[in-house]
Amino acid sequence: MNYQRVYNFSAGPAMMPEAVLEEIRGEMMNYRDTGMCVMEMSHRSKAFIQIAQQAEADLRELMGIPDNYKVLFIQGGGTLQFSMVPMNLMKNGRAGYFETGAWSEKAIAEAKKCGQVDLLASSRDAGFTYIPDCSKLNIPQDCDYLYLCQNETINGVTWNTLPDAQGHVLVSDQSSMFLSRPCRVTDFGLIWAGVQKNVGPAGMTIVILREDLLRGRLDPQIPVYLDYQAHADQESMYNTPNCWAIYCCGKVFQHLKKMGGLCEMERRNQEKAKVLYDFLDQSSLFHGTARQQDRSLMNVCFRADSDERDTQVVSQAKAQGFDNLKGHRSIGGLRASIYNAMPKEGVEALVDFLRQFEKEA
Ligand SMILES: Cc1ncc(COP(=O)(O)O)c(C=O)c1O
Repeated sequence: MNYQRVYNFSAGPAMMPEAVLEEIRGEMMNYRDTGMCVMEMSHRSKAFIQIAQQAEADLRELMGIPDNYKVLFIQGGGTLQFSMVPMNLMKNGRAGYFETGAWSEKAIAEAKKCGQVDLLASSRDAGFTYIPDCSKLNIPQDCDYLYLCQNETINGVTWNTLPDAQGHVLVSDQSSMFLSRPCRVTDFGLIWAGVQKNVGPAGMTIVILREDLLRGRLDPQIPVYLDYQAHADQESMYNTPNCWAIYCCGKVFQHLKKMGGLCEMERRNQEKAKVLYDFLDQSSLFHGTARQQDRSLMNVCFRADSDERDTQVVSQAKAQGFDNLKGHRSIGGLRASIYNAMPKEGVEALVDFLRQFEKEA
């Protein structure tokens, strides 16, 4: 079948690997002789349970997730995790938060509804364009956990070095960098990621949680869907899960394994981001907005010399097959999200376009 695809720089939902989409299309009408599509399948069926177990096993292999960590597939999007984390992990009613952009800001607002939030560091003073120095943190002893957003999708900054948690449990929102590079799971008590950026379709969040953290929650009256324990006890099948997202994510895990795993993804992502940042660094019209050592490999935020020019870039780019380059509505500017599925050729073609735009400006 003939189709014209664009280079989609959306921050999420975002591009998926073409090979995966083709494979899914091949199985659409009749999944492995079941005579039905995965969308039509009972989550209790043998075929689907096999899909879910394989997806979890492949994710465990890709990330090297130890046995004492649970892997949960939960609905409600990333936003629900802003509440689930404090509802489940605030046992003393106190946690430390790092404020580095729009998504950690939102997490803080929700955590405050559950208990005391200690702001350990913030980059608000410069519009969240950098990761603050965390070498001398003053962490109250009774903080239940420390929370960070490891890659701020809107602001385009990323934590290249984790803060010294001083023995506290570290919780990370990895939504927009999940599986983009190797991750030492044992550095964290809990990792979560909305899958609609770097993995699969919207509607699911993956939570990787150290088992001992399931015990001793403050509020026994927590609604059942918000209780990690309920999901863990039922292997993410307490209720009907997002079967389609689990299936698609499973396909992406297999694809990543075939590509060489997370070290290879990191190599490719560094190479890809360098093409764009190198261009921005020498451009006389465009400039990157994040501090150099903190800039994200996934979400490249940049600007031309005026808002009007940014608008022109977005519309002219779209006409030439580069979609979704508009920066987040809260901060404006331009943003190219270049997740795992964006090929290097897409970034090279974008740079050619920007170079031409600059010449003609
Ligand atoms: C880093 C990060 N965390 C959380 C969220 C919120 O996710 P959701 O829209 O699935 O609630 C987003 C969404 O874009 C995000 O980029």
